[in-house]
Amino acid sequence: MSVLPILHWPDKRLSERCAHVGQRDMRPLIADMFDTMYAANGRGLAAPQVGVMKRLFVFDTTWKDGDKAPMVMIDPVVIACERIPVVMEEMCLSVPGLAVPVERHTAVTMQWTDETGDIHMGDFDGADARVIQHEFDHLNGKLHLDRIDPALRETLEKPWLAARA
Ligand code: NI
Repeated sequence: MSVLPILHWPDKRLSERCAHVGQRDMRPLIADMFDTMYAANGRGLAAPQVGVMKRLFVFDTTWKDGDKAPMVMIDPVVIACERIPVVMEEMCLSVPGLAVPVERHTAVTMQWTDETGDIHMGDFDGADARVIQHEFDHLNGKLHLDRIDPALRETLEKPWLAARA
């Protein structure tokens, strides 16, 4: 197990659509992704953020409260969304230090495959729903910045890019 380097925006790979995993054994990568996510003090990490262009992500929304609950979703599908949109600030390990107010659904129903190949269906709300929607976006090459008003995006990203130049 090891901590992997995390790609930072505007790396082009963060804007690409990822490929299905299918029956491939992703367990070594998943272990590294959890190590990487916890080491970076994050609550979610998608495979493209470590340069693997496959449809899977890991998350754990409670570990910072002392209650580890690691979850992995392989080839996830959004089955349904609660239609009530809520705006909250989100951080992304690929855009470190930038808080972006993003509108998301309050609840989602997901279908996914786990690391052993079993298929699951489940309902998520609260922090889980938000993190799942954020990480799912990564699999389609979408960042939180891609979901906000262009004028607000410019206001937020210009100083962020300038500080890194
Ligand atoms: Ni992210």
